Amino acid sequence: MADSRALLQRVLGRVVGRAREIELVVASLAADRHVLLEGPPGTGKSTLLRAVADELGLGFEFVEGNAELTPARLVGHFDPARVLTDGYDPDVFVDGPLVTAMRDGSLLYVEEINRIPEETLNVLITVMSERELHVPRFGRVAASDGFRLVAAMNPFDAIGTARISSAVYDRVCRLSVGYQTAADEANIVHAAGIEVTDEEWLAKVVEVVRRTRTHAEVRIGSSVRGAIDTAAVARSLGELRDAPPTDRGVSLDAAVVALSGRLRLREGTSRIPEDIVTEIWFEVFGRDDADQLPEATGGKATAPAGAAPSR
Ligand SMILES: Nc1ncnc2c1ncn2[C@@H]1O[C@H](COP(=O)(O)OP(=O)(O)OP(=O)(O)O)[C@@H](O)[C@H]1O
Ligand SMILES: [Mg+2]
Repeated sequence: MADSRALLQRVLGRVVGRAREIELVVASLAADRHVLLEGPPGTGKSTLLRAVADELGLGFEFVEGNAELTPARLVGHFDPARVLTDGYDPDVFVDGPLVTAMRDGSLLYVEEINRIPEETLNVLITVMSERELHVPRFGRVAASDGFRLVAAMNPFDAIGTARISSAVYDRVCRLSVGYQTAADEANIVHAAGIEVTDEEWLAKVVEVVRRTRTHAEVRIGSSVRGAIDTAAVARSLGELRDAPPTDRGVSLDAAVVALSGRLRLREGTSRIPEDIVTEIWFEVFGRDDADQLPEATGGKATAPAGAAPSR
């Protein structure tokens, strides 16, 4: 328990905020449970799990979940060229991340678990409860102490979220991760190493990003990654224009370039994302009669040729 407390303190020092989530993940892993983190993109799921795994001092096998993650890629396979000369010898088996994690007693971290094919998911389901795996011609692989599955998924993801069966949910501790607080988001921009000298300006940038998440015409708004990018682009754009990053023209242009691609608009809206970012930016930064800035048009007038009205 003392170990878990010390671990908790170390992880807290590496991640901005998220005290409750970190505590629950550390407790679940200390109790030897598998963990599923569910939350929108950019809410720090990977950051949190990486920090926990690093501080645990356990190995960490990282797997990107996608449709190409076949059981052979996850488990491992016999090298076909060597099978021809040596046959199905265990030496010829190339360990995949699952077998490595089971043998070493490390964490297997699967991103976007909802995107992996059904048969690969079934392998994981078996391993989670049996703690062992039978690989044809290779034999039995037992999970060493310390082996646990940590998985992440994005509930907005249309690809197969519903497919995550009750069999998976019944074998994991699940933690739902929401968007960070405004104060945490500003601190995350600092933690990302972006030099910002005007805190008031940064608070407004963060507010613009947050409002993209509640705008009536937006289905999915920007994550904190959009705030990091806006601050970074404003800095370099300001240098190019010989102006401070907080200059109104610089920060509006930076926000549009950093955020417009991150908005997923609702079906049926005729507006384009850059127009919505501009509208929100004026709401937050206010209007200035001296501005020579493009206004939000409420229509398609500013659409570049070929821009899709909604995505
Ligand atoms: N609590 C946090 N502390 C420090 N940095 C953070 C935190 N949350 C997010 N970030 C930063 O924001 C970015 C996105 O975080 P991260 O990749 O962990 O999100 P995610 O939830 O795994 O996203 P996705 O679902 O897209 O994989 C990273 O650059 C990360 O450094
Ligand atoms: Mg991630």
